Amino acid sequence: MVGLGAVSTTTIAGVMAVRKGLAKPIGSLAEMGTVRLGKRTDGRSPSIREFVPLTPLDDIVFGGWDIFEDNCYEAAKHAGVLEAPLLEQVKDELAGVTPMSAVFDRHYVKRLDGPNVKKGKNKRDLAEQLIQDIRSFKAKHGLARLVMVWCGSTEIFLTETAAHQTIEAFEKGLEENDISIPSSMIYAYAAIKEGIPYANAAPNLSADVPALMMLAQQTGAPLAGKDLKTGQTWLKTVIAPGIKARLLGVHGWYSTNILGNRDGEVLDDPESFKTKEESKKSVLDYILQPKLYPELYNEMHHVVRINYYKPRGDNKEGWDNIDIFGWLGYPMQLKVNFLCRDSILAAPIVLDIALFMDLSKRAGFSGVQEWLSFYFKSPIHAAGLYPEHDLFIQLMKLKNTLRYMRGEELITHLGREYYD
Ligand SMILES: NC(=O)c1ccc[n+]([C@@H]2O[C@H](COP(=O)([O-])OP(=O)(O)OC[C@H]3O[C@@H](n4cnc5c(N)ncnc54)[C@H](O)[C@@H]3O)[C@@H](O)[C@H]2O)c1
Repeated sequence: MVGLGAVSTTTIAGVMAVRKGLAKPIGSLAEMGTVRLGKRTDGRSPSIREFVPLTPLDDIVFGGWDIFEDNCYEAAKHAGVLEAPLLEQVKDELAGVTPMSAVFDRHYVKRLDGPNVKKGKNKRDLAEQLIQDIRSFKAKHGLARLVMVWCGSTEIFLTETAAHQTIEAFEKGLEENDISIPSSMIYAYAAIKEGIPYANAAPNLSADVPALMMLAQQTGAPLAGKDLKTGQTWLKTVIAPGIKARLLGVHGWYSTNILGNRDGEVLDDPESFKTKEESKKSVLDYILQPKLYPELYNEMHHVVRINYYKPRGDNKEGWDNIDIFGWLGYPMQLKVNFLCRDSILAAPIVLDIALFMDLSKRAGFSGVQEWLSFYFKSPIHAAGLYPEHDLFIQLMKLKNTLRYMRGEELITHLGREYYD
């Protein structure tokens, strides 16, 4: 885990609690989901766990990096997501997870600063130090396989540059401390270079550049990202396909949030917010397809706001006002008020991503794992392809990939066979 903050400590503490039988892994498709096989009349719906060989939770060892020196127990207490009685029951295991020193540069995350940071000759040297950390961690715990998940902060908005275009240009950029290579890209490079699956829970550009995609193909590293689809955007990708399915129009969609955790504090910086905003805004365009349905969606005004408001901590409150119109253009409104818990929604997703990325690696898949787009706000995708955002198409894609891996027939939902 890169970053031992709210999301990662809630994931780690949660897995430890589940292992001890103290709680259930609610929200985890990998742990609680099933997959239908064959016809609806066959009655075959094994659990995903039985169907594909996922790593058992008992076999997982957690490690990570952070710019703060707090161990995972202290960091979880600071994050304030899980309550003390639960944390106390997994205190020893959590306290054993101490952060390695981080690759960090305030240029990319303006609202953060911490002492546990590596020094190096240049960015290449820092990448080499991360690779050493990875190898030492693997050897120390006698591990067979690794997965890296970026759960660090949202960095400033960056776009592709020449240094991102080829592996050679990227490595030269590392040596020359190219400004367009942020910390998250250095971690991604280290993982991919080692052939380790790399997933990005934040909206940072990170591995989503041609150079790192090419490197992933070469080293056999699966990639997934970006930005976990947890709260407001998750609901958006549930509601928008419904509006579109009935061919109702949308005049505007206004989304606003308040939250008071460290993530909220980082996002209070306009440059980090811009990265998040781009990620949150893209989903509606792809789902509603204004080019195909100009009368319904061309005029849509989409606004997304996140406001840092300390008293709420990790308990985000989101409001959506959706101005829609129907038959003969008559207007209607839909209001959503979601009182959610950011990291409680994110933790099972991080666990699923880690388990499925490990499965991808064992299945011989490398590069972009489109079947995991179910979990992300801005799913990475091949050049020239538009991403699929509809949650239910994404779920179908995920389950069909599991069927494909096991040589089972894919499900098309045609259903004629029941009436022939
Ligand atoms: N529902 C959700 O919670 C959710 C949804 C989507 C995306 N995310 C993203 O996940 C990320 C983590 O969220 P969080 O709530 O845990 O935030 P957080 O601020 O609690 O944790 C982030 C941690 O990363 C550390 N960090 C930052 N830069 C680092 C670096 N270069 N190396 C090592 N550690 C570094 C910070 O010190 C901090 O401890 C954020 O980018 C957030 O936007 C969260």
